[in-house]
Amino acid sequence: MEVLTDKIRRRYDRISRVYDILENPMERMSLKGWRIELMKELRGKVLEVGVGTGKNIQYYPDNLDITAIDFSERMLDRARLRAAKYNKKANLMLMDVQNMSFEDSTFDTVFTTCVFCSVPDPLKGFKEIKRVTRKGGRIILIEHVRSEGKVVGALMDILNPLVVSLYGANINRRTVENLKKAGFEELQVTNLWKDIVLKIVAINN
Ligand SMILES: C[S@@+](CC[C@H](N)C(=O)[O-])C[C@H]1O[C@@H](n2cnc3c(N)ncnc32)[C@H](O)[C@@H]1O
Repeated sequence: MEVLTDKIRRRYDRISRVYDILENPMERMSLKGWRIELMKELRGKVLEVGVGTGKNIQYYPDNLDITAIDFSERMLDRARLRAAKYNKKANLMLMDVQNMSFEDSTFDTVFTTCVFCSVPDPLKGFKEIKRVTRKGGRIILIEHVRSEGKVVGALMDILNPLVVSLYGANINRRTVENLKKAGFEELQVTNLWKDIVLKIVAINN
């Protein structure tokens, strides 16, 4: 798993310069609006996992204590520039969600946008998120997942190795199932785009 983690981290280091350009069509179509809505739900001490180039940073509410991590140094460099540009005081740290250095129950809210498609061991990542979130705290995710449709789902499985090798992201992750396996029993799932882009809210009971 360490080899795979390193491979994906290096891939994000490489694409960091063009990430915003590649992501721009999706940003304009819908992601921007979803990000803004998600930011309204943040409470207390907040952790963003997989901050990337910092696309959420400009929408961070000013009154919150926000820590944001990413395992790619180059992506994080871009997030730092964005935080400076928008004058946001986020605490940006180089860290792997699969093995975080935070104490148990540190955060009230943890959120991710388009991250668990590429975390090498999603189950390990979710267990770590559960550990660092206080009891009763919330985890909010916007993630693309495998469709449950027979044909579309099968197509996603077939295309997945190609997409992973080009981009490092899986298009057939079963994220709701993975959250349940990691011990999150109370989940609210909203389809944002068909059954492929989901907003998932998990309560850490
Ligand atoms: C597709 S990008 C999304 C970035 C950002 N959240 C956004 O909405 O634009 C995925 C990000 O997750 C980070 N990531 C993937 N696996 C990670 C891990 N195990 N620990 C921390 N960050 C990770 C990648 O480095 C990358 O910056």
